[in-house]
Amino acid sequence: MGLRIVMLGAPGAGKGTQAKRVADAHSLPHISTGDIFRANLAQGTPLGTKAKEYMDAGTLVPDELTCALVADRLAEADCAPGYILDGFPRSLPQAENLERLLDDRSQRLDVAVNIDVPDPEIVGRLTARRSCPQCGRIYNLTYDPPRREGVCDDDGAALVQRDDDREETIRERLRVYHETTEPIIAFYEERGILKTIPASKMPPDDVFAQIEELLAAVRAG
Ligand code: AP5
Repeated sequence: MGLRIVMLGAPGAGKGTQAKRVADAHSLPHISTGDIFRANLAQGTPLGTKAKEYMDAGTLVPDELTCALVADRLAEADCAPGYILDGFPRSLPQAENLERLLDDRSQRLDVAVNIDVPDPEIVGRLTARRSCPQCGRIYNLTYDPPRREGVCDDDGAALVQRDDDREETIRERLRVYHETTEPIIAFYEERGILKTIPASKMPPDDVFAQIEELLAAVRAG
């Protein structure tokens, strides 16, 4: 049985860390709208240039642009058995758009996993985040540092810090999250598919174990 999963949570809650692990464990495509925008930026495409304006400001890329991008991605063959969406939807119009898209294909989401971490913890996590531009592995200088300073354990590439991980931008991202994204938690609760993990001070392995437990329950129906 395939799984269609949405990962919810504030910036820095650990969506990307967990989505990557879940995708590997269940052989599902990991679709991160943030990663798609950053890849476009690195390749210098018009989409990347447009998205950069919003990302640097800590605000959301317009819904129309983001929804069209996701619709195209979900139409690709590798998404047929399921997928894990990370960072989408993040507004009510995006959630409604996704629901319509799935309805048109007589499909539905199986579960919306909400990783709940309080704001003060998030600021500390994001200022210490580093990532590998080559393989996408995410590190944290405080909680999960690489073996050798500044270098990816897996492929030896030099680790980078994201432009939007400056404290001022993080605070704006959190403001936008509470105002625009948080309402979709209630949207998925109403649909009976919301599962919240209270993840404050919880190590990544424990968060992953909880996600696996709830996915097993979803699979068992
Ligand atoms: P995006 O890339 O999606 O960023 P985000 O939602 O702000 O989330 P992050 O990637 O910052 O955090 P995360 O929850 O994935 O945490 P991570 O696992 O890295 O979006 C960036 C921008 O793109 C947006 O601001 C917007 O402009 C645009 N955008 C993207 N999608 C959009 C959409 N749908 N609509 C409109 N605009 C969109 O972990 C963070 C750190 O914490 C890491 O260092 C990690 O090692 C560490 N960590 C993880 N888990 C734990 C743990 N359990 N304990 C301690 N540390 C941990």
